[in-house]
Amino acid sequence: MSVPTHGALRAPFASLCFARILTVSAMLAAFTGGALAPTAALAKTPPPKAVFDASAVAVPDRYSADTAQQIFAAGGNAVDAAVAIAFTLAVTCPDAGNLGGGGFMTVFMDGKPYFLDYRERAPQQATRDMYLDDKGNLLPGMSVVGHRAVAVPGTVEGMWQAQQRFGKLKWKQVLAPAIRYATDGFQVEPWLQQRRDAATKSFAGKTNFDAYFSGLKAGVTYRQPELAQTLSRIASDGGREFYEGRTADLIAQQMYGHGLVTKQDLIQYKAVWRQPLTAEWNGYRVVTAPPPSSGGVGLIQMLKMKADLKPAFDGLDLNSAPYIHLIAQIEDRVFADRQQYLGDPDSFKVPVDKLIDDAYLAQRADEVKPDEVPGAAPVKPGLGGAAPEKAQTTHFSVVDKWGNAVSNTYTLNGDFGSGVVVDGGGFLLNDAMDDFVTKPAGASPSGAGSAEVNTVAPGRRPLSSMTPTILLKDDKVSLVIGTPGGSRILTSIFQVMTDLYDFNMPPADALAAMRFHHQLLPQKTIYFEPYRPITGELAEQLQAKGYTLEGQSFNGDVQMIRIEGTTPEPAADPRGVGVARVMH
Ligand code: DON
Repeated sequence: MSVPTHGALRAPFASLCFARILTVSAMLAAFTGGALAPTAALAKTPPPKAVFDASAVAVPDRYSADTAQQIFAAGGNAVDAAVAIAFTLAVTCPDAGNLGGGGFMTVFMDGKPYFLDYRERAPQQATRDMYLDDKGNLLPGMSVVGHRAVAVPGTVEGMWQAQQRFGKLKWKQVLAPAIRYATDGFQVEPWLQQRRDAATKSFAGKTNFDAYFSGLKAGVTYRQPELAQTLSRIASDGGREFYEGRTADLIAQQMYGHGLVTKQDLIQYKAVWRQPLTAEWNGYRVVTAPPPSSGGVGLIQMLKMKADLKPAFDGLDLNSAPYIHLIAQIEDRVFADRQQYLGDPDSFKVPVDKLIDDAYLAQRADEVKPDEVPGAAPVKPGLGGAAPEKAQTTHFSVVDKWGNAVSNTYTLNGDFGSGVVVDGGGFLLNDAMDDFVTKPAGASPSGAGSAEVNTVAPGRRPLSSMTPTILLKDDKVSLVIGTPGGSRILTSIFQVMTDLYDFNMPPADALAAMRFHHQLLPQKTIYFEPYRPITGELAEQLQAKGYTLEGQSFNGDVQMIRIEGTTPEPAADPRGVGVARVMH
């Protein structure tokens, strides 16, 4: 294994630094004739003061809640807990938790906001037309299932960078719970088997998914010895092992002759600390995801346009037909901008400031009319986004008692990603390539709009909707929120925030309230969810307005923590099996 190239200072060198401090204090002691050295040699920093009454998490499963509890009990902070949760979910929620995917982490640490982009990147051999046949037709399924769907994973590098920069515990300590779950096993719950059963059909005969996951049956204790070994290597050699060590070799072998990701791609992969996207709204500072996510821009656009439209919303009942109509009109504009302007900021200049500018949004809000007939006039349509993106991703929210917070969303993209398991490594690889525009305009005679900004190119990051968000009030964390759900991510977070702040609902009620989804294309469709379907009078009113209603299987799994005063109130979405837990 090659030596970690960066961020690796703590494990091997911390003891060296400690030795140097000891030497200095020994010298001081000599100078002072053996008496206690002056204050410089005593503990320099007072122990951090608790800001909140407790630490808290909202996580997608019970195993990761137990992991967080152990980490807090060992003195870890929010970042330690977040990294430990992420590795645990890679074991206990293999549909979405991952080593072979990527994501975003929004952090608030010691009074400052940070954003870590560990999104997957296209391999160097990727090309703009790699999913088209020689007639320019899309090769069905190729960006979704199997080796060619795989982009260079970012999760391990993301966790490594976050923990090295902000963690208090040793790297090995935060991996220990995940290694235990992989070695000793965890009890499979029915929901996971259901997801497996559904996914296995699309992977059948195309990937090695079944060779690894056919045993994922409700009630069994499921052990993953290869994954345990991979995690142990990462634990002892550091995060770069995944990119430069034996794990990288196993990935490259798995890809060889079938996919595009090479060892060189892995060696070159770096996560990026970006300026988080921030905006003032409703007395809060919203800290959220910048590009390559479209989510933060979209969320801020929705919040501000809704505030601009206060006179139109005044007196409307939550989720009444006229209310849903106004939100849908706002969402048309958000998704029109998304398609046209948003992509990897390292490939394109993304006009973020203009898109969230108050005057621009006031003008866009002005276009929204209560009596507009849906679809009557096109709203700057682009290419792509014709249907909501597919499941599955996962989000968790963490605060520690010192006032720090992590909002983390990460993904394999589809349920169980590409379905390709790294032989010998025991973990799944993503199908994030499908988040690119796989059929660029021009390749299709009917292609409308350009969406050039999100075409495949070597090293480029696909546009994402993941929106891990933190709200600050008076420079303290007041809300930590996020969800899976593809393009429903931003519309779900927006709705929960609206329920919380415009309708003053307690967190549990805000999560239980009905959610719907709408995006520019198809322009007349309102998607509803099985949890609280749109039926009866409301359905009739929306249809009378010109909307078509369509059921969708999934409308998010929001995990959030609200803090008013000093008491964290975590809440897990009743649509899922998440756990909200306060830890003293
Ligand atoms: O990055 C994105 O926006 C998608 N790959 C996320 C997919 C997702 O959230 C699916 N979850 N249910």
